[in-house]
Amino acid sequence: MTETSQRRILLIIGGGIAAYKCLDLIRRLRERGDAVRCVMTKAASQFVTKLSVGALTNDRVFSDLFDLNDEREIGHIRLSREADLIVVAPATADLLAKMAGGHADDLATAILMATDKPVLVAAAMNPRMWSHPATTRNVALLSSDGISFVGPAAGEMAERGEAGIGRLAETLEIIAAIDRVIGRAAKGPLTGHHVLVTAGPTHEPIDPVRYIANRSSGKQGYAIAAAARALGADVTLVSGPVSLPDPAGVKVIRVETAAEMLSAVLAAPHADIGIFAAAVADWRVAEAADEKIKKGAAAAPQLTLTENPDILKTMSQRTAKRPALVIGFAAETEAVIAHATAKRKSKGCDWIAANDVSHETGIMGGDRNTVHLITADGVESWPDMAKGDVAKRLVSRAAEHLARTQVDV
Ligand code: CTP
Repeated sequence: MTETSQRRILLIIGGGIAAYKCLDLIRRLRERGDAVRCVMTKAASQFVTKLSVGALTNDRVFSDLFDLNDEREIGHIRLSREADLIVVAPATADLLAKMAGGHADDLATAILMATDKPVLVAAAMNPRMWSHPATTRNVALLSSDGISFVGPAAGEMAERGEAGIGRLAETLEIIAAIDRVIGRAAKGPLTGHHVLVTAGPTHEPIDPVRYIANRSSGKQGYAIAAAARALGADVTLVSGPVSLPDPAGVKVIRVETAAEMLSAVLAAPHADIGIFAAAVADWRVAEAADEKIKKGAAAAPQLTLTENPDILKTMSQRTAKRPALVIGFAAETEAVIAHATAKRKSKGCDWIAANDVSHETGIMGGDRNTVHLITADGVESWPDMAKGDVAKRLVSRAAEHLARTQVDV
C-alpha cells in the first residue's frame, strides 16, 4: 500500500526524433515528485538509449515483451497495474495506427491493450503524416475510446524546411495535460492528513456463483474520496464491488465481503478522518457452499445468516489508531433523524450523515442526495444536492473541524 500520494507514470517512448525530449519530461516529472517508469519501443532505441532513460528514472527500462525475465518478475499486466497513468510520447503515426487497430505485438502495444488506466498520447510526426486521413481517422477512433491527446504543436520540424503541425508538445504542456488527466492534489487544508473512506456495497457469497448484495453504487463514497484528495489529503478508499473508475490520485483497495473490508480498513495506515460510506451487508451466509447449490432437492435450500462485523463501530470504539474524526452514514427508510441519532450513539462515531434511501427518493444508486448531518451539537439539514457537492461540503466541514481541534494542522 502506498502511504503517500506519489503519482506513478508509465511512459511509453515511441520511435521518433522527438524521443530525446522525453529525457527532459522524465527529469521534470521526477522533480515534481512523480515516479516514472519507462517502456521503449524497438524504434525508440534508435533515438535514445536505455541507459540514459534508466539513469533518469532510476528504475529498469522495459522494452521486450518476450523477455522471460521481465515477464516472470514483472509482466506487462503488472507494469500497467502499477501505474496511475500511461503517457505515450512521442507517439508516431505507426504507433497510433497500431493502437487504433488493437495490435499487441510488442511490449508497448500489449500494455496499451491490457490497461484499464487512463492513457495520454503526445503525438509527434511529420506534418503530412499528421494530416493524412489515416492518422485523422486513427486519432478520432482513439479519442472516442477515451484516450486523451496533447499536441502536436505547430512549428519547424527537424527535417530541414519542413513546417506545420507535428511537433511534440512542449514538456510543460505535457505535464499540464498529465495534471488534467490524473489530477495533482493542490495544497489544501488536508495536506499532510490521511483520510480513509469506505464505499459501495459488499457481496456476501452464498455459493461460488451467487451472493447477497444491495443497491449501493459507491457514488457517494467515491465522490468523498475525490473531494478529500482535492483538499490535499492522502486518501485510501476501501471499495466494495462497483463499476466506477478509481478517483485520480487516490489509493483504492478493492474488496468483496464485509470481512475483507474490515481487514483492509484495519490494515490501512492511521487516518485522521474516517468516513464510512459503504453499504456493508449486515449479514453473510454462515457457511457459503463450496460448490454451486443445485435445484432438485425436496426442499428449497435454507440459508442460515450470521451477522457481519460492524466496521464503523469497530473503528469508532477502538482506542489505538482511532481517527480523530469518525463519520458514519445512516441509510434509513423511515424516522430518518431519530434512527440516525440513535445510530450515532450506538456506533460511537462523531458525526452521522443520514439519508432517506426509500425507493422513491432515488438516492441509492442515483446522482443526488439529501443529507441530515448529525453531530454532538444537533442536526443540520442540507438541501438536495449532487453527490459531488454533498462530498465537498462534508469534507470541508471535516477539514475545518480538524483544524479547530488539532494544534498541528
Ligand atoms: N456499517 C459498517 N459495518 C456494518 C454495517 C454498517 O461499517 N457491518 C456502517 C455503514 O458504513 C454506515 C453505518 O454503519 O456508515 C450505518 O449503516 P446502516 O446500513 O445505515 O446501518 P446498520 O448499522 O446496518 O443498521 P440498520 O441496518 O439496523 O439500520
